[in-house]
Amino acid sequence: MAETMFERLGGFAKVSHVVSAFYDNVLESPVLAPYFDGIDMKKQIDHQTKFFSALMGGPASYTDEELERKHARLNITEAAFDELAAVLRETLEDCGLEDSDINGILAEITNRKRFVVTKP
Ligand code: HEM
Repeated sequence: MAETMFERLGGFAKVSHVVSAFYDNVLESPVLAPYFDGIDMKKQIDHQTKFFSALMGGPASYTDEELERKHARLNITEAAFDELAAVLRETLEDCGLEDSDINGILAEITNRKRFVVTKP
């Protein structure tokens, strides 16, 4: 069977490292940091690691309905979503992922935009 992106990148430990770097960068963004005021970052990193792992063919996943429910009361704007995608791209580049993998991950994230941005 073909190797998944998750396996190729080095499995859970590597993904966990990438996610930690991502959140460090998120917290340095004046647009994004306020959304994470008062959130337990350890819990958040754990959840996001599972999510990224799922995107890349690893274990654990969230349905679109769950994502919508979890973000519904956060007032996430389209600008904030786009900023998060930009910060993610920079992080993945800094972590040395290949362009094709980066584009694949960004496409999976962008596909879920309507479930995360708060409806008017
Ligand atoms: C496609 C993009 C996104 C995905 C896949 C995603 C995924 C997730 C996941 C899996 C959780 C954990 C849910 C749980 O089990 O508790 C979560 C929580 C959260 N997300 Fe996102 N997220 C996305 C975009 C965003 C954006 C753009 C923001 C803010 C600008 C954001 C802010 C938050 C916050 C603040 C929480 C914590 C909620 C809480 O614990 O009360 N997310 N997200």
